[in-house]
Amino acid sequence: MTYRPLIVGNWKMNGTRAMLAEARAIDRGAARHPGVRVAVAPPFTLIQSMAENAETMTVGGQDCHAAAGGAYTGDVAAAMLADAGGTFVILGHSERRAMHAETNEQVRAKAEAALTAGLEVIICVGETEAQRDAGEAEAVVCAQLDGSLPGGEGVAARITVAYEPVWAIGTGRVPSVADVGTMHRAIRARLVQMFGAEGAGISILYGGSVNAANASELLAAEEVGGALIGGASLQAESFLAIVLAASGASDE
Ligand code: PGA
Repeated sequence: MTYRPLIVGNWKMNGTRAMLAEARAIDRGAARHPGVRVAVAPPFTLIQSMAENAETMTVGGQDCHAAAGGAYTGDVAAAMLADAGGTFVILGHSERRAMHAETNEQVRAKAEAALTAGLEVIICVGETEAQRDAGEAEAVVCAQLDGSLPGGEGVAARITVAYEPVWAIGTGRVPSVADVGTMHRAIRARLVQMFGAEGAGISILYGGSVNAANASELLAAEEVGGALIGGASLQAESFLAIVLAASGASDE
C-alpha cells in the first residue's frame, strides 16, 4: 500500500490576511512533495481565501457545531466550512476540551455533523500529565476514542485520529519515540476493535511540540501516519521542514 503521511498545520487563533503569503508558500512547498498530504486549518476567517488560492494543500476548520444551523451565536456549522472550501475539520482538540468543556459526546455529535456535510474529520485524543503519571494514559485515550468517534458504514475511511498528549502541546516536551509507539499501537488495537479491518487503515497522527528537529524520529515511530503541528506550522519555513522530513518516510 502506498504510504502518504499526512502533515496538518493547526494555526489555532493565529493569522490575519497578512498570513496568506505564508499559506501560499506552504502550498508551493507542498507541490514539491507529492508523497506527503499537506493540510492547514487556519482560523475560520481565512478558510475561504486560503482554499481559493490553494493548489496542492487542503484547508479545513478547527471546530464546528453539531447542529446544521440555527440560533447558535458565534458558532459555525460544518456545511459552512464546506461552503467556504474546507475539506476537513479538527475536532476535540484538547484546548477545546479544556477551555470549552467539550465532552466526548459533543465531539462525536460534531463529527457526525461534519461527516454529513461531506468533511473529513480529525479527532484529537490525549492524556494530561497527571493521568500519565497515574498510569492511566492508555485508558484515558481509549475512553476518548470510544466516546468521540462516530460509528457506521464507510466512516473509518473518512476519519483520522490525532494523538496529542496534553502535556506536550506547546511545551517543547515530547514523549519518547518508544512511548509514542506504545500509545499508537494501543490506539490501533482499539480502532480495529471498533471498526474491524477498516480500523487498520485509519491514519493516526502524533501531535505536540513537533518541529523540524524531532519530526523525522517521531514520524518513524510505530503506527505514526503523520503529524498535527501547532506552533511550527505558522511559518512556511519551519512547516515545510517537517513536510520534507515526512517525505523521507513516504514512497516519494
Ligand atoms: P504544538 O501544538 O505543535 O504547538 O505543540 C500542537 C497542537 O496543539 O495541535
